[in-house]
Amino acid sequence: MDKMRLALVGCGGMGTRHLHGLKQLADSPFDAVELSAVCDISAANAEMAAAEAEKLLGVRPKVCTSMEAMVQQVPDLEAVDVVTDPSVHHTVVCEALDLGLHVLVEKPLAITVRACQRILDAAARNERIVSVAENFRRDPSARIVRHLIDSGAIGTPYMGMYHSLGAGNSIFITPWRHRRELGGFILDMAVHFTHMIRYQLGDFAEVYADARMVEPERQKSASMSMDYEFYKKRFAAMPERIPAAAEDTTQAIFRMENGATLNWIVGIAGHAGAHRELIMGTDGSIDGFGVRGGRITLARRDAAPLSQEDILASAEGAELSFDPLTRHLFPSGVSAGDPLVDLKLIAYELHEMAEAVRGQRTVEVDGRCGLKDVAALYAVFESWRAGGPVALSAVESCQSYAYQAEIDAALGID
Ligand SMILES: NC(=O)c1ccc[n+]([C@@H]2O[C@H](COP(=O)([O-])OP(=O)(O)OC[C@H]3O[C@@H](n4cnc5c(N)ncnc54)[C@H](O)[C@@H]3O)[C@@H](O)[C@H]2O)c1
Repeated sequence: MDKMRLALVGCGGMGTRHLHGLKQLADSPFDAVELSAVCDISAANAEMAAAEAEKLLGVRPKVCTSMEAMVQQVPDLEAVDVVTDPSVHHTVVCEALDLGLHVLVEKPLAITVRACQRILDAAARNERIVSVAENFRRDPSARIVRHLIDSGAIGTPYMGMYHSLGAGNSIFITPWRHRRELGGFILDMAVHFTHMIRYQLGDFAEVYADARMVEPERQKSASMSMDYEFYKKRFAAMPERIPAAAEDTTQAIFRMENGATLNWIVGIAGHAGAHRELIMGTDGSIDGFGVRGGRITLARRDAAPLSQEDILASAEGAELSFDPLTRHLFPSGVSAGDPLVDLKLIAYELHEMAEAVRGQRTVEVDGRCGLKDVAALYAVFESWRAGGPVALSAVESCQSYAYQAEIDAALGID
């Protein structure tokens, strides 16, 4: 396949990881992407990314601080990989689409439902592809859960639990994750969760929720886990304390279109944590919805629980066939414990995009799907604001909109 000519737009923390994901792909028999340029409004970040790319891939990409200049420097550019902070996803993605480029964009598709709609309109207007880089669903654990549900291994799912509550008052990765209008923590992290719940259980119908900000101030954590130069530089420059201005704790009951209900407790604040993901069906249950580097188990009455390895070795597991790239990246079908899992899933997203641009497939998470994930997340806040249940259809059409209206007003999205 002729390689897709791609530019990275947004050369921060996750942008750096996307470069390492490209390296995973370049080292595989599925090498389908050529990195032509890197672009960031911060010239220093763009330069740092170009140096990292040269080290990893052996070729220095063009370095740009605007997309307009970039398309002049690389006239045969085909696509961009947008990894900016979420508050500018809509402006950057729409500009790229209007320049005639296809777009792979990190989750969330955009900062609000209205911003997502702008992207959908620009993609339709320009007849270009938009793909959302939702890495959790590409993990083998997620594929296995989906296969088990589809094959009836747990009967009819009737109830789910998604509890991801971490204690503490640390700054979560970056200060912008504690400001609503820049992409608060709950949006940034939990849009993965709304996506995964929809992937496994189908669409949401209605939600009744509570939200609150438990920690009015955030402190720099003692250390940082990522071993990339960019993360170290960003961590060194981080202030010791910041005021928080985004909710950090949510609780909700979702009713799904298929009649199942789901109990949600998501946040990072306070003095206690709770972590459990469970899908309960009439004939069994699955621990886990699937996640990057995750492990799932299957339980059925009168039988010992099956580990992920047991499931793969069972008759039901034998019916599951991973696609060739997943087989190559995760030959055992288990990503847990693989130190490269983050980068391999990015490699997968990039390869999928290249195949879609070459007309060989459609993308898995398109703009409409990305909008639904964002709407499901904001349904939590809209319900909290409304003081009662809200229908997902009302959030998707912006009839239920009071919470997001403040974000849109702050960002000039009308
Ligand atoms: N899928 C995952 O597991 C995962 C993990 C981390 C982050 N993310 C996502 O990646 C995105 C980036 O997060 P991050 O932590 O790397 O943020 P970051 O703040 O580290 O980096 C953002 C970069 O975008 C640049 N930028 C801002 N506006 C720009 C513009 N108009 N044009 C070009 N560049 C611009 C900034 O200068 C910065 O270099 C977010 O959408 C986030 O949700 C996803």
